[in-house]
Amino acid sequence: MSNTSDAVLPVILAAGLGTRMKSRTPKVLHELCGRPMLAYVLDAAREVGGRRPLVVYSPATAEVTETFGDEADFAIQEMPLGTADAVRAALAVAPEEVGEILVLSGDVPLVQSDLLAELVDLRRARNAAMAVVAVHSVNPTGLGRVVRSDDGGQVLRIVEQKDATPEELEIDEVNAGVYAFDAAWLRRRIADVKPSPVSGEFYLPALVVLAREDRRAVVSVEVEDDGTLSGINDRSQLAEAELDLRLSINERHMIEGVTIVDPLRTYVDFAVELAPDVVLEPGVILRGKTRIGEGTRIGAGSQIIDTVVGRDCLVWASVLESSEVEDEVQIGPFSHLRPGSSIGRKARLGNFAEVKASRLEPGVQQHHFSYIGDAEVGERTNVGAGSITCNYDGVRKHKTRIGKNVFIGSDTMLVAPVELGDGARTGAGAVVTRDVPAGMLAVGVPARLRKPRAAASPPAEEPATPEAPAVPEAPGAQGAEPVTR
Ligand code: UD1
Ligand code: CA
Repeated sequence: MSNTSDAVLPVILAAGLGTRMKSRTPKVLHELCGRPMLAYVLDAAREVGGRRPLVVYSPATAEVTETFGDEADFAIQEMPLGTADAVRAALAVAPEEVGEILVLSGDVPLVQSDLLAELVDLRRARNAAMAVVAVHSVNPTGLGRVVRSDDGGQVLRIVEQKDATPEELEIDEVNAGVYAFDAAWLRRRIADVKPSPVSGEFYLPALVVLAREDRRAVVSVEVEDDGTLSGINDRSQLAEAELDLRLSINERHMIEGVTIVDPLRTYVDFAVELAPDVVLEPGVILRGKTRIGEGTRIGAGSQIIDTVVGRDCLVWASVLESSEVEDEVQIGPFSHLRPGSSIGRKARLGNFAEVKASRLEPGVQQHHFSYIGDAEVGERTNVGAGSITCNYDGVRKHKTRIGKNVFIGSDTMLVAPVELGDGARTGAGAVVTRDVPAGMLAVGVPARLRKPRAAASPPAEEPATPEAPAVPEAPGAQGAEPVTR
């Protein structure tokens, strides 16, 4: 990182149409590991330590101003006529006093800040008009070729693929598309760039020839092709860059003590945080701002999005979205936490359990085909097989409140709004339409209240009624067996 680059203005080119992506989304907003590619370029630019970056956009890419409005200044290029024209648009709004300009491409997202600092320092040390990055490329196709003097020392010009002669196409040294410029010189000469007779575009690399005419130095940083300077023009290159980034993210976590069983098939977004002794099985996808605590195992095929999971949990083939999971919880297989769910310590959810916008207190058990939505469920309550909160009446959503140590019998329908007091029970198949006070038993369709047998005072024969429970009380009070693994 440079400590002498205070005056540098980073300019990021992001006005191109990106037609090779064949997308309605601007190219630089396509994502790599959960972030738009432009975000990575902005990071690298900021790390160089100069001024606030200036992003060049066009009407077709105006979305970048909404996405990055707080992080950059913007210059508009009305028509994307080429990279030199884009820099001209940047100079039109750049402050007068800027002495050095660093030009970056919005579509070269893996560029490293130490290389940028080296480029800036080299140009300054040699008082060159411009400095370029030349890559010894394994696959130069489509890129600008760096043409050197016979002794190999001087950069004579950079030729675009479309404009190159067959001999020039043989050159395997290519232009990376990042440049440092003497800003005063650039301001004087940018208008002299002529459009390419082949494509009609104004090429930024054409400035090499203008600098030589002025007898100003053009210097180059030469690097091997390690993928960090690969430009992304189409979806295939997007996938290649993402693979590189994914492997480096996984590598970083493994060094910090995370076990990743199959790093090629584990998808961890850029901002995800993983504690030591987390285990990620194959096919795991961790998105957004997910955080996983120490010792937690995420089983094969799980997808976790913007969710915080505590320590020593087991998540098994499940989908968790925008939720919170405390320590020592077990989830799955095949469970779904929808946004706004909060699962207390040592709770157990599994075998097709769905939870939405609900709080489950510690020790809750919810196994076997069940749905809890817009609810609060107290400590150690057992949600029996097939039980659901009927939280939607077709027009509005309603709340369900369930106390602690409640026993919800199999196949209970809790028709919200409804409240079950501490220690309440429901019979199998009960359709609970009214509140159940603490300690009471609700049975039948619709459910009627009784005192549970254990707590019952001397048997008072109940009259037979047409509302008799659908299922007799004793077996009805049973849930399915708790699962342990
Ligand atoms: C460019 C270079 C090429 C280099 C390659 C490296 C030119 C003429 N060619 O080619 O030498 O090898 O990058 O990846 O510069 N942009 C604008 N306005 C425009 C045109 C482009 O802002 O009018 C932006 C694009 O959004 C993109 C960047 O500039 O972020 C590069 O443009 P692109 O069309 O991708 O250039 P390449 O053909 O890749
Ligand atoms: Ca490109």
